[in-house]
Amino acid sequence: MSVPPPPEPITGARLLFSLDPAVSHLNHGAFGAVPIVAQRAQQRLRDEMEADPLRFFTQGLADRVAHTRRHLANFLGADPDGTTLTTNTTTGVAVVLQSLGLRAGDEVLTTDHGYGAVDLSIRRECRRTGATHRALRVPLTATDEQVVQIVRDGLRPGRTRLLVVDQITSATARLFPVAAIVGVAGEHGVPVLVDAAHAPGMLPASVSSIGADFWVGNLHKWGYAPRGTAVLVVTPRWRDRIEPLVVSWEQESGFPARLEWQGTSDYTAWLSAPAGLYTLRSLGVDRVRAHNAGLAAYGQRVVGDALGVPPTDLPDPGGPAVAMRLVPLPAGLATTLDGARALQTRIAERLATQVAIMAWDGRGWLRLCGQVYNAPEEYQRLAVRLPGLLAQR
Ligand SMILES: Cc1ncc(COP(=O)(O)O)c(C=O)c1O
Repeated sequence: MSVPPPPEPITGARLLFSLDPAVSHLNHGAFGAVPIVAQRAQQRLRDEMEADPLRFFTQGLADRVAHTRRHLANFLGADPDGTTLTTNTTTGVAVVLQSLGLRAGDEVLTTDHGYGAVDLSIRRECRRTGATHRALRVPLTATDEQVVQIVRDGLRPGRTRLLVVDQITSATARLFPVAAIVGVAGEHGVPVLVDAAHAPGMLPASVSSIGADFWVGNLHKWGYAPRGTAVLVVTPRWRDRIEPLVVSWEQESGFPARLEWQGTSDYTAWLSAPAGLYTLRSLGVDRVRAHNAGLAAYGQRVVGDALGVPPTDLPDPGGPAVAMRLVPLPAGLATTLDGARALQTRIAERLATQVAIMAWDGRGWLRLCGQVYNAPEEYQRLAVRLPGLLAQR
């Protein structure tokens, strides 16, 4: 079967970033890449901050933060009154977990596609409180209906105090039907936290339509914001119960100020997030989304072919907008976290190509992303050189 053609390139987009041209950057999903416009916006804010720190922090900063919060909530289709800025998804998850008041006998339910650090956070909160963590097995090939059924069957009403589900999974690059999952959990009175680390900018998401009790997403991945920019969206019934990890002067101010103000910190990433969205909008949000998803699909086929993987064995991401795709690695390779990390480093050093290598379900996977700064030739080069590198075990 011949590989379908790649999408039309977005001409000149690479020059909007400061990426090293000697490297193929096929792992946008890990730490993003900040467009130069947003870097400059942040530098201008830092210059302003350093020119007169007292003025920067005490005159108008709260209004600027509120303006940014409304801007980002509007972009995401989230209720601005239920939105709080936070530094990253890891923090947003921890904030929710420690606000639940878990007790012995309670459980936190996840799937086995969850993000490693989120699972570790859940386990620590469970250890601290006497609650337990249970992960539902969801086969990679499960249809949306099957995923919803697995969740329905897995809920233990009265005991399951929180269901954590990813909107787009990291290890398996899979879009989950989160709105339907939230609906099912709601029927059983189980609150849901949606880990939407990859959703902002990638999906035409309307956070409000998902209806989750908690939704947390990074702007610093597919939304082109400077790193340290994420939002946590909370439904009205939880807003008064959400506590920051660290108490600040704004503790008595309620939601969201008590969460957003974290003492002397650098708030310039948040304030420059709209400049990242400006780049996305200038390129055309829908055009960028279609390009990125199409290029990731192209890369999956090209590299999959090179590794001898039949197209039918290439995992389907569960929706056309997902700009990350998996290719299974030969059996026995990168089956552990350490093995995956070592192979990822070897590919970066030997092939000058940044990819994600994941260990999931007892085997190794290569995760490829598509972004406006990528070209089809980068995936083709990887396809030519990867089989040789994998053969040298
Ligand atoms: C699904 C998922 N959740 C959480 C995170 C953590 O995001 P951050 O490092 O910004 O906290 C990631 C990061 O890649 C992720 O993919």
